[in-house]
Amino acid sequence: MITQILPVNEASLEAARVIIARGGVVGMPTETVYGLGANAFDTVAVESIFKIKGRPNDNPLIVHVHKDYDITTLVKDIPDYAKALAKAYLPGPLTMVYKSLGTVSKAVSCGLDTLAIRIPSHEGAQRFLKYVNLPIAAPSANISKHVSPTSAEHVYRDLNGKIELILDGGKCAGGIESTVLDCTGHIPIILRSGLITREMIAMVVGDCGEYVYKDGEKALSPGLKYKHYSPTCKTKLFSSGDFNKAVAYCKNQITLGVKCAVMCDGAASEKIVGIPVLNLGATADEIAANLYLKLREGEDCYDEIVAIEPVMQDGVMVGVMNRLKKACAEVK
Ligand code: TXA
Ligand code: MG
Repeated sequence: MITQILPVNEASLEAARVIIARGGVVGMPTETVYGLGANAFDTVAVESIFKIKGRPNDNPLIVHVHKDYDITTLVKDIPDYAKALAKAYLPGPLTMVYKSLGTVSKAVSCGLDTLAIRIPSHEGAQRFLKYVNLPIAAPSANISKHVSPTSAEHVYRDLNGKIELILDGGKCAGGIESTVLDCTGHIPIILRSGLITREMIAMVVGDCGEYVYKDGEKALSPGLKYKHYSPTCKTKLFSSGDFNKAVAYCKNQITLGVKCAVMCDGAASEKIVGIPVLNLGATADEIAANLYLKLREGEDCYDEIVAIEPVMQDGVMVGVMNRLKKACAEVK
């Protein structure tokens, strides 16, 4: 199968509509990471997403809709706090989990009685969703467990020959996946941290809960128990306080003949001389936008990435740290 990369325009949207209508999948841009989308009403199409990605079949998908889509045809019992959050932050990188009406294919939620809904703000995503006017089930458009894609080129690298079309909407501005928020209880609970931070949610609805997955238990959000975001090269993570240790380790690896680079924030990178650096940037937003890009650059160019945790760890950095720790986890 030839995989085409096309900019979002009338012709590519029509091509995408035809592919979706016959049960195919399309790579689509969003403001967080690229998605791999299929018609959420079509069970065979949804199942093919799992096959293409090699995704475990108990990890449910997010349904994406355009901003004027009537989500009450998909989900029920939308609490007032969710309406307030939607008003404040949607379209945007916030996915909300509600009780499902069961109108989309059961394959989307892998047997759960809930459905995750996302209204992306990316202009190309909105145009695509409006053009097909269907709920589109879409996980990140990477091979399962690999680093998520933040450009059409990244999607191509993972899925070339497996999908027909990637809509190219440029580099993703956000760079890490949406915040996933459980909205089925009395208060919202963060299932996956992201660009809409706990502080931003609290500002609208008072505080919210945060779910912490413990190894072995039945996960509230099944995706949490899987290995994620991993580059193909070796990784080693150091805390920000262990800066000197990390640099010494990297230098030693290089003398042993290992192609090695340090991955760190802008401030730390300024203190490094004589060894390769993957600079994540200065601000939390920059670091989020660059994380997957730099992990992919690292796996392309080096045998090992020596990551140093950024000093900042609040706000958007909560989501970044969650991804960085998983990317560098020992168990692959
Ligand atoms: O930013 C994003 O959310 C990207 C773009 C493409 O929109 N999508 C994305 O999808 O990250 P994926 O499949 O890589 O991650 C979906 C996460 C998983 O952790 C999954 O377990 C959780 O959402 N999820 C989906 N449906 C759920 C549900 N009904 N209840 C709880 N968690 C759910
Ligand atoms: Mg993913």
